[in-house]
Amino acid sequence: MIKLENVTKNYLTGNTALEDISFTIHPGEFVFVVGPSGSGKTTLFRLLIRQMIPSSGTIHIGNWDIVNLPKNKIPHLRRNVGVVFQDLKLLRDRTIFENVLFPLELGDMAQDEATKRVEDILQQVGIVEHRDKFPVQLSGGELQRAAIARALAFSPQILLADEPTGNLDNATSWEIVKLLQDINAAGTTILMATHNTDIVNSLMKRVLTIEKGKLVKDEQREKKKKESK
Ligand SMILES: Nc1ncnc2c1ncn2[C@@H]1O[C@H](COP(=O)(O)OP(=O)(O)OP(=O)(O)O)[C@@H](O)[C@H]1O
Ligand SMILES: [Mg+2]
Repeated sequence: MIKLENVTKNYLTGNTALEDISFTIHPGEFVFVVGPSGSGKTTLFRLLIRQMIPSSGTIHIGNWDIVNLPKNKIPHLRRNVGVVFQDLKLLRDRTIFENVLFPLELGDMAQDEATKRVEDILQQVGIVEHRDKFPVQLSGGELQRAAIARALAFSPQILLADEPTGNLDNATSWEIVKLLQDINAAGTTILMATHNTDIVNSLMKRVLTIEKGKLVKDEQREKKKKESK
């Protein structure tokens, strides 16, 4: 479970990126986070992985108090909360295989097991044939799959995807969303920040709308649909 209570984030520049945000997300949910550019979506994700701490408010993920999490527990948190960054952050001088292996190498998984794990994930996200290519040799959709693969390395319970369809054509965007839906169907909680209203309106999932740092809407579209039957 992800639980935010009265979270505010002011950047040092004086920008209030998030203001008094509260919501709870239960295990297994698929939630869209929408809002205009600059509304605070990426800031929210950065708080969830403890890249920074809020100016005020509390964040809990499962039993973890994220704001007060000791530094030595941050790697544990990052294994449980995978993230696909808006700018992907793939390492350009490593192959796709090596990029996905990288987080596992930092952990203590045995090499054989890590290699098998990477092969399995690349298969799962559909880019195993590109395993030995470098990021520059892949298409936008393939790169997005590679970043998703890396985020899945430790089989996280939660996956944050920041604008995963941002630079993709319509058909490829849908392929990525289908992949995320498959990952969600296998039990992973997903938060997806997006500007793609077509996808949001088609999927009938829960939608958190942030505007100027405030949570202005929290719609349970799935439920509404069932209730109206
Ligand atoms: N490191 C930073 N220092 C100061 N201000 C920042 C920093 N990062 C983001 N901001 C500001 O915080 C606000 C929220 O930014 P954020 O990146 O969270 O928006 P976003 O909703 O992800 O936007 P987009 O849809 O364009 O990705 C913006 O006003 C932005 O300029
Ligand atoms: Mg962003």
